[in-house]
Order: sequence, then structure tokens, then C-alpha cells
Amino acid sequence: MAAIELRNVVKIFADPKRGRELLTLDNIDLDVDANDFVCLLGPSGCGKSTLLNIIAGFENSTSGQALVDGRIVERPGSDRGVVFQQPTLMPWLTAIDNVAFSLKLKGVAKQERQRRAMEFIDLVGLTGFEHHHPAELSGGMNQRVGIARALLMNPRVILMDEPFAALDAQTKLEMQEELVAIWQKHRCTIVFVTHSVDEALVLGNKIVVMTRRPGRIRESVTFDLPRPRDITSPEFNDAKRRVLALIREESTRGAHVA
Ligand SMILES: Nc1ncnc2c1ncn2[C@@H]1O[C@H](COP(=O)(O)OP(=O)(O)OP(=O)(O)O)[C@@H](O)[C@H]1O
Ligand SMILES: [Mg+2]
Repeated sequence: MAAIELRNVVKIFADPKRGRELLTLDNIDLDVDANDFVCLLGPSGCGKSTLLNIIAGFENSTSGQALVDGRIVERPGSDRGVVFQQPTLMPWLTAIDNVAFSLKLKGVAKQERQRRAMEFIDLVGLTGFEHHHPAELSGGMNQRVGIARALLMNPRVILMDEPFAALDAQTKLEMQEELVAIWQKHRCTIVFVTHSVDEALVLGNKIVVMTRRPGRIRESVTFDLPRPRDITSPEFNDAKRRVLALIREESTRGAHVA
């Protein structure tokens, strides 16, 4: 059984302001195996965030189903950790209290909460900023608090929506390495949305390319180069050429339609 099963997922958004409906996801069928690291690529507006939100349980599909570990997704759950495209921290809580929030809900004692949260604050390089509030942190730092919060829950499935987009090059490299290390250690399943082909190929063992809206699965490519990956190797560049060709085909197809 796949860790995540998407069965004919369709999403239509109502657009009452313009008196129309927007077909966003059209018949998405996809299996993500347990321990897969799937990177999802596709043009802006093709429905990547919507798809992630459906798996997370924040959004309903119009028809079709999303299943996680064989159970139909009906609401968010602690089996799925989510890092959103925009940081969604509680502004009245400090970084450490945001990270530890799920432990508080579980009734874990304060000292233990803080100890565990500090491990992840440290992991994302925010030691010294743990008592800052979100308004006192930069966008990238807030994003790292969101990542620490998701990882602390040690979820079976991690859903990440362009989590490193706002980070500087060096921090991004470090976070990518950490994420691969966490994935290898905890053997979780990751779905990671990115606009960067390089990032997808550094991280993923599967690259899924979506079409323009209405989003469909264009192709799923397995990519099992040994790690750490050498982005200058001929094998890496061969794969990059293939994925770029797919993406280019998609944008040309769209341009003709338009
Ligand atoms: N809550 C909503 N209500 C109405 N329309 C929505 C809603 N959320 C998304 N959409 C529409 O659905 C389409 C897909 O949006 P989505 O955010 O999933 O795209 P995306 O692939 O994540 O894009 P990006 O790469 O720019 O983040 C867009 O046309 C958007 O306008
Ligand atoms: Mg998005």
C-alpha cells in the first residue's frame, strides 16, 4: 500500500465574484510510496499548493479522494506535518513556543517541551532567537521556525510547500542537507513543492511534473542517484535536461493554447 494515494482528485474553486468556476486540479492520480521523497514541479498557478492542502486535510477535493496510510483524509492530523508556502506562526507566541505548540496540546510538561523544541530550533540554525516573536524575525527565519515545528512532530508524512524559497543560498544548502539527513534517519515520506529543478534533483528520489492549470500529472520520473549528489556530474545533468525538456514542453503547450 502506498503512503499517499490520490484517486481521481478534482478541485473546482467557486469564483462568485466573476460568476464562474475554476477547474484547478483535473483528475490527479498518484501513488507516493512509503519513504519516497517526491519533489513536485509545475508552473505557477497549476494547483501544487491546492494539492498539498488536500493531502494535509485543509482543503476538500471536489471529487475523488486522498488517502494517507490507507485512510481517507478528512481533516488535518498529526501524522502529517505541513510547512506552508507562507509562514503561519502564531504571532503572540515566541519561536520556541510556536515550535513546541503541538507538545503543549498533548500535555507535555513545560521543561520537556522546551528541551525538545530547542533541539529543532538548533537544527534550523535559530539558537539565540528562540525567545523572539515572529514579528522580530525575518521571513526566512520565520520559515525555519515553521520547518522546526513540522519536524518536531516526527510525522509519517511531511508536506512542504517551497519551504526554502526565501532563504539565502548558504542556508538553503544547509537546510537541504539537513532535510535529506532527517529523511534518511526517520524514513518518513516527503512531498516537497519547488520551482527549482536543481533543488528537486538534489532532494528527490522521484520528480513529479504537473501540467499548467488545470493541473494534471504530466510525468513522474524516478531519480535514484547516490547521495550526496554531485550537481556537476553527467548523470545529474542528463536528468536535469530531461526534466527541463518536460517543463519547457508544458510552457510551450500553454503558450499555443493562449
Ligand atoms: N481558496 C481559493 N479560492 C479560489 N481560488 C483559489 C483558491 N486557492 C487557489 N485558487 C486558485 O487555484 C489555482 C491554483 O492555485 P495554487 O495556489 O494551488 O497554485 P500553485 O501551483 O501552488 O502556484 P504557485 O507556484 O504560484 O504557488 C490558482 O488559479 C488560484 O487562483
Ligand atoms: Mg503554491
